[in-house]
Amino acid sequence: MSLLFSPLQLRSLELPNRIQVSPMCQYSAVDGSMNDWHLMHYGSLALAGAGLIVMEATHVTAQGRITHGCSGLYSDDNAAALARVLAFCRKHSAVPIGIQIGHAGRKASSERPWEGRGALKADAAPWPVAGASALPFAEGWPVPEALDREGLRAIRDAFVHSTERAAALGIDLVELHSAHGYLLSTFLSPLSNRRTDEYGGSRENRMRYPLETFAAMRAAWPADRPMGVRIHGSDWIDGGWGVEDAVAYAGALKALGCDYVTVSSGGVDGAAQIPVGPGYQTGLAATVRRETGIITCAVGMITGAAQAEAILADGQADQVALARGMLFNKHWPWAAAAALGASIPLPPQYARAAAQTWRGTIPTGAA
Ligand SMILES: Cc1cc2nc3c(=O)[nH]c(=O)nc-3n(C[C@H](O)[C@H](O)[C@H](O)COP(=O)(O)O)c2cc1C
Repeated sequence: MSLLFSPLQLRSLELPNRIQVSPMCQYSAVDGSMNDWHLMHYGSLALAGAGLIVMEATHVTAQGRITHGCSGLYSDDNAAALARVLAFCRKHSAVPIGIQIGHAGRKASSERPWEGRGALKADAAPWPVAGASALPFAEGWPVPEALDREGLRAIRDAFVHSTERAAALGIDLVELHSAHGYLLSTFLSPLSNRRTDEYGGSRENRMRYPLETFAAMRAAWPADRPMGVRIHGSDWIDGGWGVEDAVAYAGALKALGCDYVTVSSGGVDGAAQIPVGPGYQTGLAATVRRETGIITCAVGMITGAAQAEAILADGQADQVALARGMLFNKHWPWAAAAALGASIPLPPQYARAAAQTWRGTIPTGAA
C-alpha cells in the first residue's frame, strides 16, 4: 500500500493522494486577471492525477503583485476570470483546488523571469513598493516604504478581502504565502526587519504581523475548509531566520487553526548559499513536523516516486509538493502510481493509457 497514494484529510476536504501541485506563478495575467493561458495550464494540471492543486501566488492588491503579469484577487474582474478557470477545471476533473494568497512586499514591481527578474526599469511602468523596513532587496532595487500602522491595517484587510473572494468562488483551500522574501517573510527575518515597534525586534514581535494576518484570514475563511501556510524554513544565512524559528512559527500558526504548512526557504537575501539538491528542504520540513506535529508538506527537488514515498514513510512529511517536476511531466502522478503499484483514476478519454494496458512496458519517465 503506497503512502503517496493514500488519502489525506484536511478538515472537511479529503485529498485523494498526497501529491500537491506546488503553486507556480505564470506571470501571464493581465491587470491581475487570469486568461486562456491559465485555462490551458490549470486545465491540463487538473487531469494530472494530483491530490491537490494550489494555484499560483495570487496577490491581494495591484501593488502587491510581483510582476505586471501576476494574478490578483483584488477586483471583480479578477474574481470573474478566476471563476472561469475554476469552472473549466471542475467540468473535467474532481481534483481539489486551492489558491495561494500573497503580497510581494519589497520584491514587487519586478520583471518577469524571462525579462530578467530584476527590478522594473523606469520605462517599464514600475510602481512604489512597501515593506517591513526601508531596506531594498538588493542593490538596484527600490527602497520600500516601511509600512506604518495604517499601511499594515490596509494590507491585512486586503488579505481578508481576497480570502472572502476565494471563499465566495468555492475554492477548496487557501494557502497564505509567507516565504521567498515576499512581504510576510520580510517581517519574520531579522535580516529584513529592523522595526523598533511591536512588529520588530524579538522573534515574537517579528512573527506578530504574519500571525495577525493569518488569524484575520482564518476568521474570514469557512470553518470547514482548510487553510495552510507556505512558511519560511531558513534564510540560509548565519544570524538570519533558521529552522528553530520556523518551528516556533509553525507552532503558533497551528494554535491559530492552521491545518498544514509547506516548508520552503530562501529568497529574503540574494546572497544566501542555498544547498539546492534532491530534497534539499525536506530536512527543514522533517524538523517542523517532528517538533510541532502539524501536517507538513515537503517541497523542493522532489522528482522521483520512490523518493516521495520514502519522505512519507520516514515521517519527514505528510505530503509532497512538486513544481518543476509537474511542468516537465504533467502526468507525473500517473507515472508515480505505476512505479509504486498504485492505481489512479484516469479521465475516460485517456483510459487506454492506463498502467495495466502496457504489459510491463509502462513509460514511467522520470518517476
Ligand atoms: C515557474 C515557477 C513559479 C513559481 N511560483 C511560485 C509561487 O507562486 N508561489 C510559491 O510559493 N512558490 C512558487 N514557486 C516555487 C515552487 O512552488 C517550489 O517551491 C520550487 O520550485 C521548488 O520545487 P521544485 O523543485 O519541485 O520545482 C515557483 C516555481 C516555479 C518553477
